[in-house]
Amino acid sequence: MATSTSTQPRDTWGSKLGFVMAAAGSAVGLGNIWKFPYTAGESGGGAFVAIYLVFVIFIGFSVMLTEFAIGRKTGLSAVGAFKSTDRRWTFTGVMGVVSGLLIMGFYPVVGGWALAYIFKVGGGLLSAPSAIGDSFGGFISDPIQPIMWMGIYLLMNVVIVMRGVSGGIEKAGKVLMPLLFVILIIVSVKGLSLPGASAGLKFLFTPDFSKVDSSVVLAALGQAFFSLSLGMGCMMTYGSYLKKKENLVQTTGMVTAMDTGVAILAGIAMFPAMFAFGMEPAAGPGLVFVVVPQLFAEMGGAIGILLALLFFIGLTVAALTSSVSLLEVVVSYLIDEKGMKRSTAVLSASAVMSVLCVFASLSLGGIGPTLFGTGAFDIFDLLTDKIFLAVGGMLVCIFAGWRLSKADLEKEITNNGEVPFPLFGLWYNLVKYIIPVAIAIVAIMGIKSGFDSGKGAIMLLGIGIIAIAGLFSKKF
Ligand code: PFF
Repeated sequence: MATSTSTQPRDTWGSKLGFVMAAAGSAVGLGNIWKFPYTAGESGGGAFVAIYLVFVIFIGFSVMLTEFAIGRKTGLSAVGAFKSTDRRWTFTGVMGVVSGLLIMGFYPVVGGWALAYIFKVGGGLLSAPSAIGDSFGGFISDPIQPIMWMGIYLLMNVVIVMRGVSGGIEKAGKVLMPLLFVILIIVSVKGLSLPGASAGLKFLFTPDFSKVDSSVVLAALGQAFFSLSLGMGCMMTYGSYLKKKENLVQTTGMVTAMDTGVAILAGIAMFPAMFAFGMEPAAGPGLVFVVVPQLFAEMGGAIGILLALLFFIGLTVAALTSSVSLLEVVVSYLIDEKGMKRSTAVLSASAVMSVLCVFASLSLGGIGPTLFGTGAFDIFDLLTDKIFLAVGGMLVCIFAGWRLSKADLEKEITNNGEVPFPLFGLWYNLVKYIIPVAIAIVAIMGIKSGFDSGKGAIMLLGIGIIAIAGLFSKKF
């Protein structure tokens, strides 16, 4: 909060809110509204949600605070922050850049779907509710259309990041994100009013731990990291812009709470309606694109169409405020470490991303190369949120706990003793001992059980890539 001695308290407040909104803009995105509901649906519902919440509170919060603290302390983005402390750790930052590149190998595909749906809703999608599901399946497996939309979506990112300031999109986010929140509430109320809806709430909030295996636990961990934008240096970079007098703990709490609130709300918006419509909870990545239009179609009339339009506009903007932060991680690396001009950095990063996205999009139509029977879209998703982000978060914790001084961390987090943080000891022990061990166990068990579904080899490949990056650390 602004101090009473400050000459411009409004400015201080304004910039603080600006920071929280920017970090929340990165966190709240497709991960909350698209990925969380369908992953919860595929992972058995309540138990997944409960484990996810435990991970968010104990691991996500702590890792975010660590990333903010390291970023603010060094004043550098991820690679520089590690490099300036200990060259041997540079690879952790570089892995973050690789994660950014790979997430941007599928994120714009889904961003493109959201963009396309604005126009589809405008073009009369809601007039034939029974065809909504088939139309989604047809759309994403088409070899041309989704690639076109992905291209437009990626171009929007390029324009925003090229200009170096995401001011415009952040302003749009400030209006549209609260609007999206309100629409999610309207959708939830409408969904809950449908006959049979309570089964959806029960599915989401009544944990049945007999359905839990280690792959569900790893999915919950990956979801927590992905949704909170952790484990790849993104929040570290944001932290480097934070003013010394701002309260890191409070900021972390606000961003974590907003992100988790939107995810849970998205679940409440989706599941009651799904159960009411008699759809399968494990409907997969199409969930939000099928359930939401169907629900608005049910509402009928112009109001249904208007709300559906606003929903997909809000979803697109939420996705944009996240993907620009992903692109920026890669771009700032190329500028700071490779001496590129911003425009060259943006164009080369997005060129690689667009190629990855083409493979990702085609793989949904069963076209293109596969690895161990898995297509590009799933490979990028598996490698990043199940392995790179979680292991990245683990390395950040080991770095903070074992390589940085406890006294320095305490000074950074408490603003030299000005902000009380009575839980510092707990946080420190979590970061130094418990989180690294917990992530290692969850990852090992998850990879083991991944072999049952043919995904283990790809995850193991991810670990191999990290190990090799570690071995050649001095080269970066
Ligand atoms: N948190 C974003 C979402 O939930 O959509 C995705 C993301 C953004 C992940 C930035 C990682 C990141 F660094």
